[in-house]
Amino acid sequence: MPITESPAWRALQAHVEHVASLHLRDLFASDPRRGETMCLEVGDLYLDYSKNRVTAETLRLLADLARAAGVEKLRDAMFAGEKINVTEHRAVLHVALRAPAGSVIEVDEVNVVPEVHRVLAEMRAFAERVRSGEWTGHTGKRIRTVVNIGIGGSDLGPHMAYDALVDFSDRSIECRFVSNVDGNEFWELTYDLDPEETLFIISSKTFTTLETMTNAHTARRWVLEALGGDERGVGRHFVAVSTNTEAVAAFGIDPANMFEFWDWVGGRYSYDSAIGLSLMIAIGPDRFEEMLRGFRLMDDHFRHAPIEQNMPILLGLLGIWYGDFLGAETLAVLPYSHYLGRLTPYLQQLAMESNGKSVDREGRPVGMQTGEIVWGQPGTNGQHAFYQLIHQGTKLIPCDFIGFARSRHELGNHQDVFMANFFAQPEALAFGKTAEEVAAEGVPPEEVPHRTFPGNRPSNSILISELSPFTLGQLIALYEHKTFTQGAIWNINSFDQWGVELGKKLAQDIIPELDAATEPDLGHDSSTNALIRRYRRLRAGR
Ligand code: F6P
Repeated sequence: MPITESPAWRALQAHVEHVASLHLRDLFASDPRRGETMCLEVGDLYLDYSKNRVTAETLRLLADLARAAGVEKLRDAMFAGEKINVTEHRAVLHVALRAPAGSVIEVDEVNVVPEVHRVLAEMRAFAERVRSGEWTGHTGKRIRTVVNIGIGGSDLGPHMAYDALVDFSDRSIECRFVSNVDGNEFWELTYDLDPEETLFIISSKTFTTLETMTNAHTARRWVLEALGGDERGVGRHFVAVSTNTEAVAAFGIDPANMFEFWDWVGGRYSYDSAIGLSLMIAIGPDRFEEMLRGFRLMDDHFRHAPIEQNMPILLGLLGIWYGDFLGAETLAVLPYSHYLGRLTPYLQQLAMESNGKSVDREGRPVGMQTGEIVWGQPGTNGQHAFYQLIHQGTKLIPCDFIGFARSRHELGNHQDVFMANFFAQPEALAFGKTAEEVAAEGVPPEEVPHRTFPGNRPSNSILISELSPFTLGQLIALYEHKTFTQGAIWNINSFDQWGVELGKKLAQDIIPELDAATEPDLGHDSSTNALIRRYRRLRAGR
């Protein structure tokens, strides 16, 4: 039975009318301890979910929904290595990437955990050689810059985590991330580098991705030019992270310098695999291991905590509540940390590539809204840009605020000024300011509507002791499992991404039409044909 026809879904539909009429002001007034009871603590993460438009009954009904949808069953199947990625016939085992040595997770009756630890050991050895200066470029110079070339999951994770943890990195080695096939990006990120001191990590699960391979070949030419064409240099300046040994060897990278991962690791769930090699070089293997322990902590929680106290399941359910019952379409993720500037792009792929689906696991159209549009940027910058719409606009925009108690760099009173905003914004969103309160301040009547804040705008606050590899691992695993929970409830396959294929194929067909020396016969629609013709004219300077 589709979940939308289940008694659990129907009960929420009947219940929504009651909650829609309630204001967060009333919910807090009727339960003065709401802010102390509607919270959860897991590891270093404290989640306050009291400023959500829910009652105890809503939470009970949402938990029923998770049970009815079989979230726990699918979760257990994932941890057991079952092939829950039904369209690609693959297991989904990013959780194995942080499983402790000695544990057993089998795919096709083979325990994958020893493999994971073998690759981790190879990464560790290589990272230590680069960090110590033992691994040099072809001309004997020490490596000063590591450039990761990859896109999507082969870029967003390591890039986000490098930015997040840069203050834990060895500052004598810088990491850069080339992802877009726009040549300007490659140029900007390499023009000031010395090829003799640069190591490229070509990160691609398939080793066929157009953007990555185009950039990789450009990098190869760039290095060889500096080395006077000496092909032997390729092996000192290029290593690969991939599942495709043949393609790596064909590129000229010794498979001994290829760090492996497996088809049961989805791209957007891969940065704690070898895809995180650049990060490991930056922060060192021990810090990387701390990060894995953070992931593991959240994995254990997700696996064992009852639904009502399960942080990722709860976050997933709240998202479903807003999207499917209260009509919200987006989630603003608002980290109060300079270091988390790339968290949102990372979460965009995680949530939107995973759950942007309109058929269920059996291929039938889904009967509800799926997927969350994730957006946002760090506070307080966002406060001076788009928060206006969240406070006074017409749309319902649930928000996740993420903040830290301790700063890496305690400059004067910056941290308290900063975090005062982290506390103020959810308060203002939830409680607003009534017309009476505004008028009582002596505001002229004609201005009162403009200065009134309706409030009742929901948010989660995630307060963390400090940003570290350990806490970052916990935070990312939290969102991974939240995404999983939502996919399970919608009964969609969160682990394929067929929706990216059509555009890729069309682009491949168009490349020769743009390159052609003579005017090609174009067989597209009239709009695409006209655009291509104009582009060709502009390129030719006509
Ligand atoms: O955008 C589609 C996608 O397949 C992502 O899922 C993946 O993270 C990205 O392309 C990169 O793929 P690869 O690692 O194979 O180069």
